[in-house]
Amino acid sequence: MSDLTTTILDRIRDVPDYPRPGVMFKDITPLLGDHAAFSSVIDALADGLAVDKIVGIEARGFILAAPVAYRVGAGFVPVRKKGKLPAEALEASYDLEYGSAVIEVHSDAFSPGDRVLIVDDVLATGGTAQATVELISRAGAQVVGVSVLMELAFLNGRDRLAGVDLRALVVV
Ligand code: PRP
Ligand code: MG
Repeated sequence: MSDLTTTILDRIRDVPDYPRPGVMFKDITPLLGDHAAFSSVIDALADGLAVDKIVGIEARGFILAAPVAYRVGAGFVPVRKKGKLPAEALEASYDLEYGSAVIEVHSDAFSPGDRVLIVDDVLATGGTAQATVELISRAGAQVVGVSVLMELAFLNGRDRLAGVDLRALVVV
């Protein structure tokens, strides 16, 4: 196991029965609160990137995506839950365990052909990431990959991102 993997796993706290009974919540706040560990994660997510924009997915994706954008010298674009963006926006919906959710991005967030990396904290069922890929493609940009801190492999989210370069710093 690499030093980075150990650093990450040691600082992600499992919280049982949150937000609902039967769910094991992966709490990244101990990792965020450790400067050296947080910096290592940002450096690893930014390593080797040549992109125009980093997209962060509200809310926890913002925490990782914005420093990655700063680190690589790219712009930052927020993908937000419906109703939060002030200007004209494109939207995409995705399924949740119960019901569905809608995310949005500003219609003018990208220049044609912009190379874009999507960053989020966790890939679970892959629904959020899949909807974000579709949204960015419709907005005229080129998705070069999806990078996450943690992939929950048992939920098979990777299967929903066929053809997308999906990278995870840790897989559990
Ligand atoms: C969580 C997590 C990912 C998403 C992964 O976000 O931060 O964005 O779920 O799940 P999926 O792969 O099954 O779509 P959530 O919207 O629950 O909360 P947040 O606003 O705190 O990021
Ligand atoms: Mg999220």
